Amino acid sequence: MIIPPIKKAALVAGFITTLFSHQIMAEQSEPLVLQKIMFDMGEEMQNITAGISSEDWQRVAEAAIKIADHPKPPVSERMRIMSLLGTEMAAFKEGDMETHQSARKLAEIAKQENGQAVISAFSVLQNNCLSCHENYREKFQAHFYGTP
Ligand code: HEC
Repeated sequence: MIIPPIKKAALVAGFITTLFSHQIMAEQSEPLVLQKIMFDMGEEMQNITAGISSEDWQRVAEAAIKIADHPKPPVSERMRIMSLLGTEMAAFKEGDMETHQSARKLAEIAKQENGQAVISAFSVLQNNCLSCHENYREKFQAHFYGTP
């Protein structure tokens, strides 16, 4: 069947519009992979607290390593984050780097079984989480989920 050029153009335009409207919908509702990674880190923080309470340093070390080695979101999502943050991206990455480092340090200290030192190292890690949340969480939620 031969489709006249104008009709063809209209079909293509329609198709593209459909593609885009799906993308806009996704921007409003689908949780980020990053959010799942965050919830997993939140659980590991609970494991660390439980480990400290029972002086189970092995448990603390294992949970801290999982935080230190947390996965990255897929490239496409990192691009969406980059376009949201623009020049702030460097500071965001820096916050992430510090978190990896302080989690690794916590794991090392836990192996030395010094409770006080573990608690100090844990508070450094908690501060890394908090400061990034204070700076970026609202921005992400407003942009990706449309919540104020
Ligand atoms: C570099 C920035 C950054 C760091 C560091 C960071 N987070 Fe997050 N976190 C975010 C952002 C942005 C969100 C919002 C993501 C979303 O809602 O899709 C978030 C959301 C969360 C949530 C979901 C909360 C909710 O109610 O929606 C949890 C849990 C969480 N983070 C835990 C942690 C823990 C634990 C750490 C430290 C070990 C940490 N995060 C470190 C940026 C960060």
